[in-house]
Formats: sequence, C-alpha cells, structure tokens
Amino acid sequence: MGKGYFLSKPLALAGIVAAVGAAATIIALSVVYSKEKAKNKHLPVVATERIDSFVPVYTTPSTPKEPWQGHRLPGNVKPINYHVTLWPRLEPNSDGLYIFTGNCTVIFKCITATDLILIHSNKLNLKKFGDHHVKLTGLNGAPNPSIKTTWLEPPTTFLVIQLNSPLKAGGTYELFTDFDGELSNDMGGFYRSEYEENGVKKVVATTQMQPTDARKAFPCFDEPVMKAVFHITLIHPPNTVALSNSLSSDPESIKVEGQDLLKTSFDPTEIMSPYLLAFVVCEFAFIKAPKDEDVLVRIWARKKAIEEGQGNYALEKTGSVLAFLENYYNSSYPLKKSDQIALPDFSAGAMENWGLITYKETSLLYNPKMSSNGDKEEVAKVISHELAHMWFGNLVTMKWWNDLWLNEGFATYVSYLGVDYAEPTWTMKDLIIPNEILNAMAVDAMASSHPLSAREEDIMRPEQISQLFDSITYSKGAAVLRMLSDFITEKVFSKGLHTYLDEFKHSNTVYHDLWKHLQMAVDEAGVKLPDTIEVIMNRWILQMGFPVVTINTQTGQISQKHFLTDPESVVETPSEFNYEWIVPVTWMKTGGDEQMHWLVDKEGTNTDMKIGSNEWLLANINMKGFFRVNYDSQNWENLIAKLDSDHKDIPVINRAQIIDDAFNLARAKYISITMALSTTKFLDKEVEHLPWQAATSNLNYIMLMFDRSEQYGPIKAYLRKQGTPLFQHFTRITDNWKKIPERHTDQYNQVTAISLACGSGVKGCDELVTGWFREWMAEPDNNKINPNFRSTVYCRAIASGGEEEWDFAWNMMQKASIASEAMKLMGALGCTKHPWLISRYLHYTLNPEKIRKQDAPIVIANVASNAVGQPLAWDFIRSNWEKLYEYGGGAFFLASLLGGVTSRFSSEFEYKQLMQFKDDNAAKLGAATMSVMQAMEVTKANINWVAENKEQVYEWFLKETTSSR
Ligand SMILES: *[C@@H]1O[C@H](CO)[C@@H](O)[C@H](O)[C@H]1NC(C)=O
Ligand SMILES: *[C@@H]1O[C@H](CO)[C@@H](O)[C@H](O)[C@H]1NC(C)=O
Ligand SMILES: [Zn+2]
Repeated sequence: MGKGYFLSKPLALAGIVAAVGAAATIIALSVVYSKEKAKNKHLPVVATERIDSFVPVYTTPSTPKEPWQGHRLPGNVKPINYHVTLWPRLEPNSDGLYIFTGNCTVIFKCITATDLILIHSNKLNLKKFGDHHVKLTGLNGAPNPSIKTTWLEPPTTFLVIQLNSPLKAGGTYELFTDFDGELSNDMGGFYRSEYEENGVKKVVATTQMQPTDARKAFPCFDEPVMKAVFHITLIHPPNTVALSNSLSSDPESIKVEGQDLLKTSFDPTEIMSPYLLAFVVCEFAFIKAPKDEDVLVRIWARKKAIEEGQGNYALEKTGSVLAFLENYYNSSYPLKKSDQIALPDFSAGAMENWGLITYKETSLLYNPKMSSNGDKEEVAKVISHELAHMWFGNLVTMKWWNDLWLNEGFATYVSYLGVDYAEPTWTMKDLIIPNEILNAMAVDAMASSHPLSAREEDIMRPEQISQLFDSITYSKGAAVLRMLSDFITEKVFSKGLHTYLDEFKHSNTVYHDLWKHLQMAVDEAGVKLPDTIEVIMNRWILQMGFPVVTINTQTGQISQKHFLTDPESVVETPSEFNYEWIVPVTWMKTGGDEQMHWLVDKEGTNTDMKIGSNEWLLANINMKGFFRVNYDSQNWENLIAKLDSDHKDIPVINRAQIIDDAFNLARAKYISITMALSTTKFLDKEVEHLPWQAATSNLNYIMLMFDRSEQYGPIKAYLRKQGTPLFQHFTRITDNWKKIPERHTDQYNQVTAISLACGSGVKGCDELVTGWFREWMAEPDNNKINPNFRSTVYCRAIASGGEEEWDFAWNMMQKASIASEAMKLMGALGCTKHPWLISRYLHYTLNPEKIRKQDAPIVIANVASNAVGQPLAWDFIRSNWEKLYEYGGGAFFLASLLGGVTSRFSSEFEYKQLMQFKDDNAAKLGAATMSVMQAMEVTKANINWVAENKEQVYEWFLKETTSSR
C-alpha cells in the first residue's frame, strides 16, 4: 500500500501549519513540508517524533483448541481458480442500506486428506442450501463430499465446513456460495465512496482488500500465499463502467429482476493473491496514453477532474516510471494493462491492486494552477511506489505479513529512483533523506521501536497485521535497502532483483530468498564484503534500532553503540546480536577522497582517521548508512568552523546530517546542546533546502518546548537573524516574490524562507503575505497566490484575521474542486487564534457532512499544532474519544491524533493527564494503546530535557542575538 494506510495513510498531518504568532510559523516550518511534500505520509514526525510504533496487541499467541479458533488457514486445501459475480447496488434499498449480492465458485485441490475445510468470510450473509451454507462438488471423478455441518465463526472470520468423511489428497473440488453484504462507507472490503457532481450525489462502489478484507467481498482463502486465478464478473447500472484487475470485453446488456443492467466479464487474472484484487463501478471518465503500445495505460477520475486535465501529469509520469522499472528490474511489465483511479474516499494513500491501482485523489491528481510542487512530488512518488509493487509484491509476494517490510520498504526505496528518472532535476535521491531516513531514525531511536522483520507467529490477527503498516516498515525498510544497494552498488542490486523476480514469479517468498539472489549477484560481480549479505543484513532487520558510530580523530579509534534518543530509556527485549551492527562507514577528511571502513565489531581502529589540528573528518558520506556519527570535540569544532568558513566544501546532504546528528546526539546527551546549536550558525550563508530543512525541524522541537515561556524572545530573535538573509536571497532571485525559482528544492526553500521570516517577524513579510490573501478575498474566483505558498499564506492570514477570513476560507474549501487545495485550506483553518472558531471547527470533525471521516485526525492535529488550539484539541479528544475511536481508522489514525495533540507536553501536570486518559479509557484504547504509551514516554523525555537545558539554551540564544548587534 502507499503510505497512509489507515495511516500512514491519510494522516498527512499535513497542514500543521500552525498559527499563533511567530511560534507557530516556526513549528509550521518543518511541517509545512510534511504537508506540502508528504501528503499521506505517516505522521508529523518532525514535530513530535512519535510514530505509531509496534508492539503486538496480543503478546501471547495462545494455541487454539480448534483449528477455527486460530487465525491461519491450515493449508490442507489450495485454491486453483475462482469465478466471482458481484452486483453492487448504488441506490439504497427500502431499509436505507446500500448492499451488494454475489456468488462465488472456487475450485480447490486437496493437499492433505481432511474432513475440515476453513475458508474466510466476514460480514457476509450466506444463503443456505438445505442445511448448509455451501454447495460442495467433486470434480474429475471425485465423489461429492458429504457435508456434516457448516457454520460461521465471526471472531476468526471463518466459514467452517465439517465433512462426514475426509477429502482425498490430490482430489479437486468445487465450493459454491451465494451471499449478500453491505456496501458500507467503511473503506474496507467492497465499500462505497460518495461525491457530488453538478449538485447530484454519485456513488462509487470500490474496494480495499489489503490486508484482510477480501473476505468481506466474497468467501475466499484470504492469505497472500493462497494465489489463484480469478474470473471476475460485475453487474452494474447502464450509465456506469466496471473495472477490475484485468481487461474485459464490452459489457453485455442484461435484464435482472426487471432492471436493465450491464454485465462486464473480465479476463482471467494472472495467478495472484486475493489482497491484490480490486473492483470498481463508477461514472468516471478516463484518459489514456495516445498510442497504445503493448500495455494499455489509463487514468480514471471524476469526470470534472479529467476534463480539467488533472490526470495528465499522472499519465505522463506513469509512462516514464514504467520504462524505468522495466529497465531496473530487467523484466517487462507483467500485465496487459495498467489502470489507475482516484477515489474520493480512500483510507490509504494508494493501493497497488494488480492492474487497477486505487488512489486517494491527492495522490494521483495534479492541477498546475492549484497544486504545489510538493503536491506534484507526492503524486510522482506514490505512482512510482505503487508501480514498483507491480513486480515486487504482486508478481512475487511475501509468504506472510511478517515480511511486509520487504514489500513496503522496497517500494518506498525504489519510488525515489523511479521519480528521479521521471523528474531528473528534482534530486529525489537526496530528498529521501528528509522524507524517509531522518524520520525513520527519529522513531527507531526509541526503546519502544521494533525490528523490521517480525516473527510469523507474532503476526496473526488482522489488527496485528495492520499495526505493521508503520514508518519503520516503510521508511526504515527503505533506508536499509538503500544502504545495501549502495554498498553492493546499484548495478549488482538490480541484477539480484532480476534473478529473484525471475525465479519466484507468481509465487511467494521470505526475505532469505532475496538475500540469496543478492548474494549470487555479489559473488558474480566479485564485490568484496566483510561477510555474507545474510549475516550483514540480519543485524539490521532482526534487531530494532541502529548504532551511533563514534570516531576519535585524535586516536583513530572507532566504536559503535545502540543509539537511543532518551538515554534513560530501557530496552527490554534482548537481541541475539547484542545491539551491534556490521556498519559500512564511509568517510573523508580534509582534501581527501571518500573511503570505506567496515566496522564489524563493537570497536576498531583506523589510524588513517587521525587528523591534524586544522583538519576535519566527515563520516557517513551522503548519509548512505543508517546510523548517526559522533566525533571527539576537536573534530566537532573543526567541522563547525569549516561550515562557518566554506560550507560548500561539505556535501549538502552532510550539512543536513551534521545538524540532525548533532541535535539528536545532544538530546541523547552525547554532546552539549550548545554544540548542536552551533551547527546552525552557518545558516546565514546557506541557501540550500536540505540543511534548512534539518535545522528547522530540529529547532522546531526547541520551539515546541519553549513557545509558551519567556525563553521564547531570544529564540525568535535568533531565527530572525538567520532567516533574514534567506528571505532577502529569495526576494532578490524571485524579483520580489513575483517569480518561482526553477529548482524543485529552491521552491521548497522559498517556502521555508517565507515561513521563517514571517514567523520570526522579519520586516515586510507579514504584510506581503496577508496582502496576497486580501487580494484573493476581493476576487474569490481569481486566486493568484502561488500554490507553493498557499499553506503558509492561508495559515498566517487566518491566524491574524477573524471570523471573516475564517468563513471565507471555509467557503473556499467547500468549493474547491481539487483535493489538494481543500487540504491546504483545511490545514490553515486550524490556525485561527479565536477559541470559539477553534471549538466550532473541532466539532465539525464529528459531522461527516462537514469533514470527511478520513480527514478528522488531520483537522484535530492541525488545531493542536497551534499553541492556542492545543489545549482545546486535547479536551476535545478526551470528551469525544469513544466517537473518534469508532471512526475505525486504525492505529495510524489514532496515533496521529494523539501524537499531534500531545507534542508540546512537557510538564508533570500534562503527564498526569495522559495517565488519567489511559486509565479512563483502558477498555477503549485498542490500537491506540501504543500511541498513548509513546506519548507518555515522549512527555517524560520532554520534562527531563526542559529541566536540563532551559538555562543553557536561553543563554546561548541570548548571547548569539546580543553579541551581533
Ligand atoms: C451468480 O449470480 C449471477 C447474477 O445474479 C447469475 O447470473 C449466475 O447464474 C449465478 N451463478 C450461479 C452458479 O448461480
Ligand atoms: C536481462 O535479462 C536477460 C534475460 O534473463 C539476460 O539475458 C540479460 O543479461 C539481462 N540484462 C542485464 C543488463 O542484466
Ligand atoms: Zn506499498
């Protein structure tokens, strides 16, 4: 899935463009990005460092007494093919319910003799044939089995079939079911999405099967390993089109129950896992590539969106990305067609159904007049991610969900390569650093993190599977695969992928299978490594966390230690590798070339790493390795001096790395906070995006801790001092903000410049920005504000305005015909400083007519990022917990809610409130349990941090801002 499963999915905590004076804007800084760039990213990691982390919901898998009380199929039968007919009703029935009816014939083979058949079925009403829910027939001369009894077992979503005598191993049978179910609006299984077109409500029937909801659409053997061929038929109204994984012939007119309908029969699918199925019935329009080559590529969306050309960018980039992937995998696209469709209601960012990829609108549609460069990047990235799955994940599939990290980490990593090919000027291979790697490090440095690879027996229940869709799986997965690809070289990596895909096509694998093929490629190419891929990589995937590598440039000693942000946190799970890693340490020193030192033990020595008194040494070049670096204080000082004199001698990624490592090392008490703060002094000369991004997201933490206190004045003054040259730089190169810089990363940095300047009170900034908003209010049909700035401009204008500005923005949000524009306004509406407007907005989240359920956590977290809104949002969550919980968005939804709302918590009083909340809702926390625990852990760490650093931080900022006057 694309990030943003229930999660990751939608929770762009996007517009945490806070308001409240300067403070908020600074906070917003980093988060504007997450909004602009990472719609559908997991969580507001930058702001809070708390992500939905994983701990099994049920820790002891009790051995079930009966097979149907367990959560896994016994594997004694295996499906070969299915014939499924489904008829979704796009109008409510007399009870006001939307339903679908259907039937399914599955032909299966008996592998081991058994008198018990388990097949998944969830929330379906099965018709009875005589006494039983199924008809069972023997094929190829096998006798018809005699059924003893059948029943549904809702806790494990099984349909249980007991026989009077066992099926014979090797026999082939046919199982028929006839059923109906609700086409509800819960975004799972076969569900409905609604939208309005020319004042008319339209209903779309669509699906989201991953991970365990195919069983909600029809009875099936719903595990990834149960690959089969699917023959799908959809019955639908005459004005609609039906889509599924494969191509269809023209629909046939039929009459059922007196109604004129269409029947669309699809070609048999390739052999595939049920979680990758998709069916859609809609009135959408499409565009396709001008000349059909071997593969038919189409983009589907609401008619208006297609008319406005919002699908054009996706269509164009799909072609380039597919070309890249075919070359990268050295394997042609496995299907005859690729449909991609944008849905008004969708819980994930996107879903890689094989041949029919479903997206949230913001992840597929792009409008040059309305979308920012970040929106554009998101579209390119999500498309690239989902297309990468067409091979890795779909053609070759993990055996079980415990290897989800491989699937998702891989697609996340490769999405950057795909976009880099499709948009070569964007420097996507650098942008993976702020987008994935720094975030993954923030989460993985907590004692409550978890290994990438889970044990199969720990991942049984659907909610355990859902919990795996987190940022460790996506972002750390991407980070370690990037590191691996780098140390064996991309060429060798892709060679290994090719033979892996070739050996396992249409079947299932575990991660060892990939290691085996990469090893083969490594051996063939003669790459020198300190050990096998398996031995090196297992340390990165089977134990949580990552090391901090410390280099003493006076002695040449180099050592590693498990890095934890909170030095007092206790790691309770032992690791078979003792939290040691085999670390590829790339490094260089003054005037020298890049070198590699493999740190294979806890400690080592490399006398080449010794430096003279005016020299510097830099390690982890371009952050290719997933670790942090610490140095002796002499080298830190030399690096900082180098940044101050010729910052361009340090690669741009490493300028960001030095800042991010330093702040995190300071939080973990390896170096002083003042040393970390000193790494930001060169920023008055810096105009590149990455270093600024790292600085603002780290300073953001300090802002969150102090924006309600008297320490805030000098901090603001320092930001003004550092931000003024940047603001002037962009004023100059953009002809006084009339032009947009050409480079993608300059466009991001231009937004940083404006947020930082307005937030810290640089003269002329606020006037500039609110002036733009007033022009728009005067002429609502002609919004001239550049899309890149909109989040920032809207937020500041609403923060400094009142009801009139708020209502204007609300109305414009209702009218917005493009989802990304609506999202920007949605974020900005949370920036108001008027408590009554905030309360009213929060209450709108309980009314799906005003705020879609999928957007509720975004609104609440946006409000919470505003210092005025935060206590109101916390009260709101506490008093409406039950309702919000029932929204059923899963762990990511709840984690983003809690993460956003508690990010400023830094007092004992707030800690007690969290504890109280946990006790009061003990029975209703479910998937949010982890998030509450994490919020408590983070709050504790914040309390300690503030107590220890308050004075030094205050004095440092005071000194920096007074000495220069
Ligand atoms: C399945 O349902 C369709 C549509 O109602 C019907 O045409 C078909 O005959 C049914 N299949 C079987 C085997 O009953
Ligand atoms: C691509 O795959 C083919 C067939 O397996 C193989 O012969 C060829 O060498 C591969 N090309 C590269 C560049 O690896
Ligand atoms: Zn994915």
